[in-house]
Amino acid sequence: MKTYRIATIPGDGIGQEVIPAGAEVLKALAAAAGSFAFSFENFGWGGDWYRQHGVMMPADGLDALRHQDAILFGSAGDPHIPDHITLWGLRLKICQGFDQYANVRPTRILPGIQTPLKNCRVQDLDWVIVRENSEGEYAGVGGRAHQGHPIEVATDVSIMTRAGVDRIIRYAFKLAQGRPRKHLTVVTKSNAQRHAMVMWDEIAASVALDFPDVHWDKELVDAMTVRMVNRPASIDTVVATNLHADILSDLAAALAGSLGIAPTGNIDPERRYPSMFEPIHGSAFDIMGQGVANPVGTFWSCVMLLQHLGEDAAAARLMAAVEAVTADPALHTRDLGGQATTAQVTAAVCKRLAH
Ligand code: IPM
Ligand code: MG
Repeated sequence: MKTYRIATIPGDGIGQEVIPAGAEVLKALAAAAGSFAFSFENFGWGGDWYRQHGVMMPADGLDALRHQDAILFGSAGDPHIPDHITLWGLRLKICQGFDQYANVRPTRILPGIQTPLKNCRVQDLDWVIVRENSEGEYAGVGGRAHQGHPIEVATDVSIMTRAGVDRIIRYAFKLAQGRPRKHLTVVTKSNAQRHAMVMWDEIAASVALDFPDVHWDKELVDAMTVRMVNRPASIDTVVATNLHADILSDLAAALAGSLGIAPTGNIDPERRYPSMFEPIHGSAFDIMGQGVANPVGTFWSCVMLLQHLGEDAAAARLMAAVEAVTADPALHTRDLGGQATTAQVTAAVCKRLAH
């Protein structure tokens, strides 16, 4: 029987509540399926680790993860540590260290969940946003000079390489090709940003030649926000830069009913390294420790993890269990207007899996 090695990194805030819930659900799933197992290794990195050791993760942390089959990540963010330190010291270190260049963010309106959009049917909003995850605005290139003086200067230089853009656009075309509608929207801002974004458009046009069965169109990022709200059914798969897709995916999550539901995969498509799966909601310190965090974003991320491992039947089974649970308003957490606890939602999903 195949045993998958899964690293869990709860991180900070509600990550410490939803990641154990995710591990519990994966264990229940493996027990029900009977054809594979998981062996979990937990890493207590994050804000508390930083307070003790002065770093978010050990210097050789990536080596401890390298041979795992996948990583389940909670969140990084601590009210007492600057956000750029928590982010760069842990999550981005793993994403960049393992060249997880494709960040994949599916969005759907799950059963029982309300969209704030008027006249939007469930089938109108079924998107996957592909976010470039290794360079662009998050390249980390830049600096500050004359610090603290009136002439201080600061730069964050966005780096776009032909190789980096080509591989993410190619990944997005392939993903779109595998979906029923075979439709891709390439988002840029090539009217204002006349170098890198124009290169994106050119690369998209040339990659498109290799995917003649995929319909594709282009949209400027500002117009894309309007299209997401006014014409959701015109969208299927989307590819955009690191920062643009960061923003669009928050909008997508809100339009699908709650940030508490949205999942992510940080994927190394070449499988040189483990890929990392996480809910996109962040550490949510305002509700931490209360047991009310929505674990659905983590469960859906577990579905993506299973798909990545090639366990498609198990992934479908878990998604069906999650959807059966979201369909019941009595099992909605506070972010969805309900009163259910993390533990109740988790137990309900585990019970469904045992059927
Ligand atoms: C996300 C988050 C992160 C990001 C934050 C926490 C830095 O918003 O995963 O979308 O911007 O990448
Ligand atoms: Mg974000």
